[in-house]
Amino acid sequence: MDKIIALAKRRGFVYPSSEIYGGISGFWDYGPLGAELKNNIKRLWWQTMVYQREDVVGIDAAIIMNPKVWETSGHTSSFTDPLVECKSCHLRFRADKIEDNRCPNCQAKNNFTEEKKFNLLTEVYLGVTEPKQKAYLRGEITQGVFVNFKNIIDSFRVKIPFGVAQIGKAFRNEITPGNFTYRSREFEQMELEFFIKPEEKEVEKWFNYWTEERFNWYVNLGIKKNRLRLREHKEEERAHYAKKALDIEYQAPFGWSEFEGIHHRGDWDLSRHNLRYKDKETNEEYFPWVIETSGGVDRSALFFLIDSYQEKNGRVVLQLNPLLSPIKVAVFPLLANKESLVKKARQIYDLIKRKFITIWDDRGNIGKRYFSQDEIGTPFCVTIDFQTLEDETVTVRDRDTTKQERIKISKLETYLKEKINQL
Ligand code: GAP
Repeated sequence: MDKIIALAKRRGFVYPSSEIYGGISGFWDYGPLGAELKNNIKRLWWQTMVYQREDVVGIDAAIIMNPKVWETSGHTSSFTDPLVECKSCHLRFRADKIEDNRCPNCQAKNNFTEEKKFNLLTEVYLGVTEPKQKAYLRGEITQGVFVNFKNIIDSFRVKIPFGVAQIGKAFRNEITPGNFTYRSREFEQMELEFFIKPEEKEVEKWFNYWTEERFNWYVNLGIKKNRLRLREHKEEERAHYAKKALDIEYQAPFGWSEFEGIHHRGDWDLSRHNLRYKDKETNEEYFPWVIETSGGVDRSALFFLIDSYQEKNGRVVLQLNPLLSPIKVAVFPLLANKESLVKKARQIYDLIKRKFITIWDDRGNIGKRYFSQDEIGTPFCVTIDFQTLEDETVTVRDRDTTKQERIKISKLETYLKEKINQL
């Protein structure tokens, strides 16, 4: 983890938030490469979950909602973690994360206060007159979908079974943020709420279907299959809204960890918000049941970084799927002080830049430039050399094989497109 954290900071993936003021626990800022990586994850998720399907639409709801939403959904009373305080060092911890009844800070054994329920919702205060109106930053992005259920069915031709997808920020006042971005207080979720008929056989069909879809999505994007597993929650672990819950877990350096949750929420939410569905053909009215897939953008970014991190002969290579790579192509003039090479390289850079996220580098020797791109996962480096000036070809160096191929400039765009877009 130390290597990943150091690389993330040094190369502009992730910085501690407000670092010049000592940081703030549980908050992180994404730098230029981190922002690209997250955007790629979100775009690919939206492509798979919305654009490539006929039965899913996407929305973007507000972060702050009427507080009645959270009372009705059960979050103000039940969205809690068990909290204990160590009587020796007075630090507070999540009771379910303590091993052997020993304080993770001062090692004191069996010396904790009684367990208390600690609510994870983050409060905010709105308005200009006192007392200000108390509201909450959303603890899950999900409720924005449920409270818009009627709006969506009234304004869009959707028919059960159908899904509503959303990506956005959620906030939790986590007791112990940690493991880098893994457990943060501000994070992004990418979720699907899939509405089905309230029947057990439908649950079984769609729960299994979405589990497989989501598992394969990570595998298709390059996560090693042997580092993924499915784990069903025991009853006492389940969130207050879930009738059944299964985690897709990743074998992180800090242990098997939740990547994404698949939940059977039944009619927990729609029945509380009193939102029914009417089948226009049969006139049947009912509260649909919901199968939910809920993944984390930040956890995906972290696990893609960890999973793709390789050290080869003392150099670091991020073997990211090119679709995820923040930079797709780097363009180098062989020598920075040869005007004819630089001019030609600039022309090629301008050409490629319109099609792919491309970076220019003319510092140091070519070997160092390759290594610098390997470290951030750039799949292709294009070098303009003296032969380019004679025969209109460039070398394209592949990050994973380190092999170089000579490609005609006129074929370069097609060549890169094929290699970058293959899943
Ligand atoms: N709507 C259901 C829901 O929110 P969850 O299991 O509490 O379910 C879903 O969260 C996903 O959100 C997790 O699998 C994880 O990827 C992400 N997530 C949850 N809490 C997080 C945190 N504190 N920091 C980063 N990501 C988090």
